[in-house]
Order: sequence, then structure tokens, then C-alpha cells
Amino acid sequence: MNERLIVSLDLSDMSQIQALVEKLNERVLYYKIGAIPFTHFGPEIVSYLKQKGKRVMLDLKYHDIPNTVARACEGAIRMGVDLITIHASGGFSMLEESVKAVLTGSGQEGTGKPRLLGITVLTSIDEAYFSDLFGNIQRTLAEQVIFLAQLARSAGLDGVVASPQEIVPIRQCCGDDFLIVTPGIRPEGGGISQDDQARTMTPKEAIQAGADYIVIGRPIVKVADPVAATEAILKEIEDGHRKTA
Ligand code: C5P
Repeated sequence: MNERLIVSLDLSDMSQIQALVEKLNERVLYYKIGAIPFTHFGPEIVSYLKQKGKRVMLDLKYHDIPNTVARACEGAIRMGVDLITIHASGGFSMLEESVKAVLTGSGQEGTGKPRLLGITVLTSIDEAYFSDLFGNIQRTLAEQVIFLAQLARSAGLDGVVASPQEIVPIRQCCGDDFLIVTPGIRPEGGGISQDDQARTMTPKEAIQAGADYIVIGRPIVKVADPVAATEAILKEIEDGHRKTA
């Protein structure tokens, strides 16, 4: 089973989710539960995936005061998820408190230690919109991503979520053992919509650049044949490995 692909279950119909997980079966180990399925179904969706032997990235992108985020992380640990996301721009104390909560809360109820990821700059934001949004910020978008990745690393996080376009500089500054998870992936081939993503790459390019995990939603969950789409993406991942090996 491929361990690099995380399929983002951005769907609001439970029977559709279950049918998709059944169909993808052994091809996919990792699923991402973000705001859409979690708001519709709550922890039930995580239990369902865990019962199926799957790994779960809980992508609720917490961004709040340190105590609130740290206590929310404790709840995520109790659900048995494998990856948790928090916004790196929440600041050092928020990040550090969350790391402590994960270290002390893990293993208490038979759950493992989830890895904590910092969200850098959303992949839907491009350079022009970035400077609009943050006005007189001194850094470019890429510099801001590196700044947030270094902040996350210094607070003890396990890695970051960033666009594939920033993998190489993040690796350079944060090292090989720092996890890089990249959404904003669009498979090779004509006719694939960018949707609302701005800073994208193909699965093969992202793997070659050094991504640990790639997150893919609509190119799998919103197409007529998700199995064929997944198989094509898995082949691209393999090709990416071959080129890096
Ligand atoms: O459908 P698509 O492949 O664009 O889905 C990407 C998923 O990754 C979405 O669930 C989105 O919320 C998430 N994500 C992202 N950019 C980030 C962090 C998470 O697109 N920086």
C-alpha cells in the first residue's frame, strides 16, 4: 500500500465517502479529514477510517490562543489520528504548547503519538494576493513560508504543510527529518482543473522535489473513475521515486 499518497475526503455524503474508501481499498492507506467531513460527521468519520485500518490526517488547521489549540490537540490524540495540523502563523507559544500537549497526552489511552504539522501559507494564495492580503509585509510569499517552517521547527513540530513549490528551500533550511506534506497537487495530463489552487505541481514533480506526503482531493474524489485516477497518480509517484533513486 502506498504510504506517500493522502486522499483528501472533502465530501459531505457519508455513503459516498464509504463507497470511495471501499473502492480504493488497498491502494490507499492515508486519508485526510478536513473541515468538510469533520463538520458534517464529527469523530465518527475518524472511527470509521480507523476501523478500516487506515491512517488519518486531521486537517482542522487550528489557529487560536495557545491553551485552546493545545487542549484541542488532546482531543485529536484521543481520536487516534496520525497527523494533526495547526497554523504556524498562530505563533511560537501556540506551537510550543501544542507540542507539549502531544508529548504528554500521547499513549495515555492506548493511542500512538500523532505528528504535528504547521500550516505555512495556503496553496490557494498566489504572490499577488499574498501582498494584497498582508499589505506592507517585508517578506515575499516564499520567504514567509520559510520563516513559518523555521518557526514550526524551532517550536518542536514534526513538519509543515506547504506548496510543492517550496519543498526544496524548506528541505535546505529544516533538514531531511522534517516532514513536508504538500497539497496543491494536480496530476499530469490535459484537462485537469486547477480548481482554486494557485501554487501547484504534478505528483511526480513533488516527489522528485522531496515531498514526504502528497495530498490530493478533487482529482480523485470528484472524478467519474476514482480508481483509475488513483492508479495513474500512484504510477506518477513511482516514476518520481525512480528518478530520485
Ligand atoms: O481538491 P484538492 O486536491 O485541491 O484538495 C487539497 C486539500 O488540501 C483540501 O482539503 C485543502 O483544504 C487542503 N489544503 C490545501 N492547502 C493547504 C493546506 C491544506 O489545499 N496549504
